[in-house]
Amino acid sequence: MNTTRCDRTPAWAALQAQFETTGRTLDVRDAFAADPQRFGVFSQSAPHIFADLSKNLIDEATQALLLDLARQSGLESHRDAMFAGDKINTTEQRAVMHWLLRTPAQAQRDGLQGLATELAQVHATLAPMLDYAEQVRLDAAITDVVNIGIGGSDLGPQMAVLALDEYVIPGKRFHFVSNVDGHELAAVLKKVKVESTLFLIASKTFTTIETMTNAHSAKAWFAAQGGTDVARHFAALTTNVAAANAFGIDTTFGFWDWVGGRYSVWSAIGLPLAMAIGAQGFKEFLAGAHDMDEHFRTAPLDQNLPVRLGLLDVWYRNFHGFTSRSVAPYHCALKRYPAYLQQLEMESNGKRVDASGEAVPFSTSPVVWGEPGTNGQHAYFQMLHQGTDVVPVEFVAVRTAKHSLAGHQTLLLANVLAQAQALMLGKADTGGHKHFSGNRPSTFLLLDELSPASLGALIALQEHRVFVSGSLWGVNSFDQWGVELGKVLAKDVEARLLSGHTEGLDGSTAGLLARLRA
Ligand code: F6P
Repeated sequence: MNTTRCDRTPAWAALQAQFETTGRTLDVRDAFAADPQRFGVFSQSAPHIFADLSKNLIDEATQALLLDLARQSGLESHRDAMFAGDKINTTEQRAVMHWLLRTPAQAQRDGLQGLATELAQVHATLAPMLDYAEQVRLDAAITDVVNIGIGGSDLGPQMAVLALDEYVIPGKRFHFVSNVDGHELAAVLKKVKVESTLFLIASKTFTTIETMTNAHSAKAWFAAQGGTDVARHFAALTTNVAAANAFGIDTTFGFWDWVGGRYSVWSAIGLPLAMAIGAQGFKEFLAGAHDMDEHFRTAPLDQNLPVRLGLLDVWYRNFHGFTSRSVAPYHCALKRYPAYLQQLEMESNGKRVDASGEAVPFSTSPVVWGEPGTNGQHAYFQMLHQGTDVVPVEFVAVRTAKHSLAGHQTLLLANVLAQAQALMLGKADTGGHKHFSGNRPSTFLLLDELSPASLGALIALQEHRVFVSGSLWGVNSFDQWGVELGKVLAKDVEARLLSGHTEGLDGSTAGLLARLRA
């Protein structure tokens, strides 16, 4: 693998010059007026998704330099190393192969030969997991599935089960408990009955304190309610089968350390989704993602959607200095999509050192945030249109609806188009208060329908765009050391909350601890 951190390439300096001469002042309205072909040049199809990038603050010269930046940084070599199973997660000495989880059993291509064993294991694990999912779907006595997991062991399956609500089997309810705050588990336990509930304990490591605490409480509740058949009512989704067995769960579905937590919805962690939409639906979800993998792996860089999105992210973060990106899915079933993307992007690229441990002299992950439209319009879109900060917006729209309520879909689509239009066009008004400066960038991702395949492709697209910016920045997008310190301190503070000892604590924590114990 041959990579160079982006700021050490000639293209970086060229982009800085480009930004100073034309980039900073580019006005998309003028760019459209000057080039009737702009929509065609800056839009493209990718598997299951059409993307319009033309409302972004970019022209062909900038795009060409960004593509140079990608080539000079060795993006293709880094991508190929990931798709060859190299250990590109260097701080943990692990391969990064979530893409293998969606690779068909019979797939053949260069670079896959060395991974035949892993691919066979993937399918040997997927088959019983899907059989189990089908078995539970047919089991009318199980009406409630409770997934206990956090982070990647919660956000992916939760987001996907909600998103594919139209495909969910009738007669079964899916609950997701992640927070160590006992209110969450208690609220679910109030709604379910021992004899009709299946608990899925989802944890890659099977050590995460929140998940273990909730799992122990669920097990204690089960026993207290007279439940005895743990084998029927508990299953574990984990790479740490020994710990699950020690906990008392024998029904386990495994995966591997080369699947990062935030990239694990395609593995056994996706079991709630497979139960919800069925084995066939889950296979379509994997197939949609695989289509996007192949696009990312093989499409020329200038027609490669994850590459184009990742390069825009770098352009906005490092040259324009924009600090955040707002995601606006115009489909209410995508309500957990922003939360899912927060972990994906900010846990992957929220790093201040490069892979060699050296502090980087530029900004990395933006803040990613958002809500489904049209709700966001009546909350924070005011700031997007007239605030002092420019926040690029990434819209997601779905062409067809799965309901037949008259008028709603047209109104929804009119709104998403109008918001993107308003951000770009603005509106002159001398009064000030009613003036919209316009020229505010947005990207428009369009799905024909929200289906298992298109959702799979959308999520894989996001995974790969995060890979692209992380790769150029030279950070390790696949570790998450930043979450460790708080975990360690919480153990110490928990003991102090019980004992009241405040020696050696900082003044603020000691003061708060005393009040909490009062
Ligand atoms: O603490 C962060 C994290 O490790 C995430 O990366 C991960 O998705 C989450 O915790 C849950 O971890 P596990 O699946 O091992 O319980």
